[in-house]
Amino acid sequence: MNAATSPDLQTPVKTENLTKRFRQGESVVEALKGVSLTVRTGEFVAIMGASGSGKSTLLHTMAGLTRPDEGRVLIADTDLSTLSDAKLTRFRRRKIGLVFQAFNLIPTLTAEENITMPLLTDGRGGQAADRLDPLLERLGIAARRRHRPDAMSGGEQQRVAIARALITDPALVLADEPTGSLDSVTGQAICRLMKELCEEQKRTIIVVTHEPSVAAWTERVVVMKDGRILTEFRTADFPDPAALTVHYQQVVAAKPA
Ligand SMILES: Nc1ncnc2c1ncn2[C@@H]1O[C@H](COP(=O)(O)OP(=O)(O)O)[C@@H](O)[C@H]1O
Ligand SMILES: [Mg+2]
Repeated sequence: MNAATSPDLQTPVKTENLTKRFRQGESVVEALKGVSLTVRTGEFVAIMGASGSGKSTLLHTMAGLTRPDEGRVLIADTDLSTLSDAKLTRFRRRKIGLVFQAFNLIPTLTAEENITMPLLTDGRGGQAADRLDPLLERLGIAARRRHRPDAMSGGEQQRVAIARALITDPALVLADEPTGSLDSVTGQAICRLMKELCEEQKRTIIVVTHEPSVAAWTERVVVMKDGRILTEFRTADFPDPAALTVHYQQVVAAKPA
């Protein structure tokens, strides 16, 4: 679980001119209108933007959950558009850890059963025993390992979901509003954890959020508006989250997409 043992560290993510349209009855929504974005290996990046700006569509496209209408996604040297659905699923299971706002834990399974599920579905259940204990320790949920989701707090459930995302040792972690269901103190603890995972283990982490207090933990903020990248900035250029918030609100209000 440290950088030395983490396989395949050279995993930059690149999107080239992604477009995605959704049909809604008679009308067509263009969720992505030519999005080109490069995230380097080991970078911790936030994607921000108002509701409906295309953040989730971009993240899901990078994860291979949604296929773009045009453009392509490259993860390390793999062009996702060249993979069949079955190969894409296997690629995702092995290379990408996904975390969602709603945790998406299986209610009838314990924490440890939820966490090891991705290894079982990938035919690698034999690796579960070695990997589980360090992960439970690292995420501070060892005492909750036999609890079911309904017996855990929101923060604990999200830690279980993060452990589930990390059990396959993915080089890339994609998180969609991971703190959106948590109170602010718990949300900040989850952010600290993601930053540590990024720094200690050199994983690439891309987090979608509309909260500046979450984005402030990352290195770089990419701002989306109406299906396009509006601008981006480095968090180090701001002395504190309040200054970052002011800047974010200014760029979203001022610049046309
Ligand atoms: N499966 C879908 N079917 C139809 N429209 C969708 C679908 N997913 C997203 N959209 C539309 O695409 C746009 C971008 O959505 P989304 O990527 O979810 O934005 P965000 O995550 O920034 O709130 C919105 O107008 C949304 O309604
Ligand atoms: Mg969304």
